[in-house]
Amino acid sequence: MPELLTLDRRDDGVAVVTLANGKVNALSRALVTELHETANELSANPPGAVVITGGDRIFAAGADISEFGGAEEAGPITQLIHGALDAIAAIPRFVIASVSGYALGGGCELALACDYRIAGPKAVFGQPEILLGIIPGGGGTQRLARLVGPSTAKALCITGAQVNADEALRIGLADEVVDDAMARALELAAEVARGPLQAQALAKQVIDAGLSTSLEEGLRGEQAAFVAAFGTEDSKIGVASFLEHGPGKAAFTGN
Ligand code: COA
Repeated sequence: MPELLTLDRRDDGVAVVTLANGKVNALSRALVTELHETANELSANPPGAVVITGGDRIFAAGADISEFGGAEEAGPITQLIHGALDAIAAIPRFVIASVSGYALGGGCELALACDYRIAGPKAVFGQPEILLGIIPGGGGTQRLARLVGPSTAKALCITGAQVNADEALRIGLADEVVDDAMARALELAAEVARGPLQAQALAKQVIDAGLSTSLEEGLRGEQAAFVAAFGTEDSKIGVASFLEHGPGKAAFTGN
């Protein structure tokens, strides 16, 4: 059983992961290990959708700086964090980060490993590692650059500047800014959880795969996934429902 986070599988198909590691939710080795195990469990037995959240004032303050040593310890630390965040990114469901406060360093990288970021008005994002004389080691340089573009990513990683919710929305780091991030995340996740989950997983997979390959290869991947989607039970339900009742009325099974 995890001790530094909670996993709540709700009746509406939404699984909520809440970081609970003290005041600042530092991503200690122990918490990152629990995150990795939780991601594996969510992949092995997927819910309808996932919401990952942290504290109200502090989503997560980043890697636990008190565990840092020298260059020798840096390798295992970055491998551990990458492993956990890759496992979160690979969950075959829509994963939403609900960020109401500070998401710094590894906290920002955790949000970046999710599929979608909903921010509250007091959310703050940043990669302040440079202020320690180091750089992001949990995917920040790569996932941030893919999301906001290389120049903004470089500016954030090289100055350590933090952005508020509105600025995060403007640069594409946050997808929505709302008064109550958690309420909105749960609402969206519940809606997604009622959808055709196999097709959703295929869409996520080909979009992610396409980001690290050529356009040609990505387009071929889409064709294969399109065909695979037609092999699902939900595609038959969806098409039949459209022809009989019009758009948006299908009752999907998730299969
Ligand atoms: N790792 C370990 N400890 C951390 C931490 C981290 N990433 N972030 C904060 N803490 C500790 C502080 O050292 C302090 O410890 P203390 O109570 O023993 O003095 C405690 O958490 C509270 O931090 P404090 O800065 O006093 O709280 P705050 O509410 O004023 O600010 C933050 C909160 C998150 C904005 C601020 O702590 C911060 O910027 N943290 C560092 C973020 C960072 O650089 N992350 C990248 C890590 S590579």
